Amino acid sequence: MGEYHIRIVNVNKSFGPVEALKNVSIDIPRGNFTTFLGPSGCGKTTMLRTIAGFYELKEGEIYIGERLINRVPSHQRNAIMVFQDYALFPHMNIGENIAYGLKIKKIPNEEIKSRVEKTTSYLGIQGLEKRNPGQISGGQQQRVALARALVMEPEVLLLDEPLSNLDAKLRMNIRAELRQIQKRLGITTIYVTHDQAEALALSDQIAIMDTGRIIQSGTPWEIYYKPLNEFVADFVGTANLITGRVSESSDKYLLLDIDAAQIMIEEPNLSVDTGSTVTLCIRPETIEIFKGMPEDKTNVLKGKIVNYIFEGSQIRYWVEIDQKKVVVDSFDPSEKGIYEGEVAIRFHPKKMHILYGKE
Ligand SMILES: Nc1ncnc2c1ncn2[C@@H]1O[C@H](COP(=O)(O)OP(=O)(O)OP(=O)(O)O)[C@@H](O)[C@H]1O
Ligand SMILES: [Mg+2]
Repeated sequence: MGEYHIRIVNVNKSFGPVEALKNVSIDIPRGNFTTFLGPSGCGKTTMLRTIAGFYELKEGEIYIGERLINRVPSHQRNAIMVFQDYALFPHMNIGENIAYGLKIKKIPNEEIKSRVEKTTSYLGIQGLEKRNPGQISGGQQQRVALARALVMEPEVLLLDEPLSNLDAKLRMNIRAELRQIQKRLGITTIYVTHDQAEALALSDQIAIMDTGRIIQSGTPWEIYYKPLNEFVADFVGTANLITGRVSESSDKYLLLDIDAAQIMIEEPNLSVDTGSTVTLCIRPETIEIFKGMPEDKTNVLKGKIVNYIFEGSQIRYWVEIDQKKVVVDSFDPSEKGIYEGEVAIRFHPKKMHILYGKE
């Protein structure tokens, strides 16, 4: 048994006929930032609410530390949830909103004052205490909701898409702040989002969910470079999924026949039998693009650019190869200019990942 802070074992949860959680198990180490990532309706909020204690847990077990918390009431779990809609109390000012939980716990006024001050300064929302929720911006409201939770100094923080209502730039800023605060305070945090970029940027561990199940869990790096199946490959980042038939196989390399050509994979992550069909995940930034034919023709395919987007630091191309579109990211366009028409692309022999999980 590894070191864990939260342990979730075989948890099931149904709402009538809807199986919102199916046999969910995961260990979360102390001080870790774990994100449940998945499409709308996959069970993320249900997972958080179950940990927070808002649903009765009939099937499965949840431990916080050594303590089985199945029957522990929500307010005794030392786990605080920030809700998806982060509703602030409209009839209280910001200071009262943040102090509310501490008042309920009958913490002395002096201590409340100092903890509220400390938390608001952490989050950069000092000076708003006397305003009402309607008199601050959406981004500030979101931070107040976070402050309301952090001020309680919980052992476990449960955050349900807390940045969803912010504009892109503010989201990036608060994302960075949130990660810093979480690290500094060492609070074990469970985060829920459908935004894959957010999950990659924030997490120590990501659990990919689909229709109530955890499909794969691992570090952001593992999830991005070693996706288990097409669902994960496609949900996190951009994936070129290419299917072919294995024509030669050893532990050092593998030859794959695809429609247009033969591809060589060096150091394949999986040993597969000759004659079997496999699907590769190839990330756009690992593919090289050439105006003419390069000298070394290993893994080079000829194609035609059908679309591109110039994004400043990079260009994203859609290259058609045998009626299939391959996405290629090319960095620093200032050097090469923008390619159009006929091109060649090369798959890096060591940067292709064979998907090995069943769909
Ligand atoms: N109280 C409820 N009663 C009945 N069905 C529910 C209830 N809460 C959730 N569900 C259903 O359970 C499933 C999971 O819902 P959940 O809210 O956990 O999804 P989610 O991953 O948080 O989605 P989103 O990204 O849209 O917030 C969905 O099919 C949803 O319709
Ligand atoms: Mg939700």
